[in-house]
Amino acid sequence: MKFCTVVDNHSGTSFDSRKMVRRALGPQHHYLSEHGFSLLVETDAGKKILIDAGASEMVFRNNLELLGYRPQDIDLVFITHSHYDHVGGLKYLIENGVPVYTHPKAFSGKKFVAVPDGTQRDISAGDDVVQALGRAKLNLISTPTEISPGVKVSGEIPRSMPFEVETKFFKEENGHIVLDNMTEEMCLMVSSKQGLVILTGCGHPGVVNMVQLAKKQFDKRVYMVAGGFHLSANVPNNERILRTMDALKNFGVERIAPMHCTGFNAQKMLSDRFVNMDMLWSGSEIEI
Ligand SMILES: [Fe+2]
Ligand SMILES: [Fe+2]
Repeated sequence: MKFCTVVDNHSGTSFDSRKMVRRALGPQHHYLSEHGFSLLVETDAGKKILIDAGASEMVFRNNLELLGYRPQDIDLVFITHSHYDHVGGLKYLIENGVPVYTHPKAFSGKKFVAVPDGTQRDISAGDDVVQALGRAKLNLISTPTEISPGVKVSGEIPRSMPFEVETKFFKEENGHIVLDNMTEEMCLMVSSKQGLVILTGCGHPGVVNMVQLAKKQFDKRVYMVAGGFHLSANVPNNERILRTMDALKNFGVERIAPMHCTGFNAQKMLSDRFVNMDMLWSGSEIEI
């Protein structure tokens, strides 16, 4: 399998120039970054699967085109959860007939995040995206499901690790704003020649919970975890970062690519513990 970073919080050249990560560079290649996330997976069976669609249609389309893909090349898009930074290009994909896979409750009600001034910021998908879903080839799933050969949606992720608790996110439910533990966020588990690869959107349910679930479902080792590790909200308290690193090591995860909402502090700490760590910014491509 290989996967490309369509959208990440950063773009450009990595500090780690190992040849296993290819970067499409040149005068005509200007990858853009934004607080958003999108990955494109090409499976060993030749399927092209998108995970999430960035924060804005403009950045998503620019980078997808530079990577050499058109919407008609994409077999399906899996939306991990509906925060705005994961669905910016979704309307464009729907208009081009790309089937959408997501949780039945992913788009129900407004979503919020607590900000330092004590208020809550709306981080819901745009109204145009929600309206477009009404015209989509929509596949709603909440249990472990193989959506393509060797590619499984995790289903809802049990919260086994007490340190992976979500406290800053909220949702609208029956006219009230309540704490949102992001039950609907799911991840992808992809089989590769090296072992299982977990691909996560924001990682609100916790990447260790994801690894534990993958080991239970497949009874084989998790080779790699890539995507948002959701550790940026824990600065300056590093406890969750330290526990996450210990748990990933104990589970035998060999390789990581912490992206998007992992945060610089956590990336720095993770790079000290994991020899096999990739920085996959917008425009990166990696083969496994
Ligand atoms: Fe995110
Ligand atoms: Fe999120």
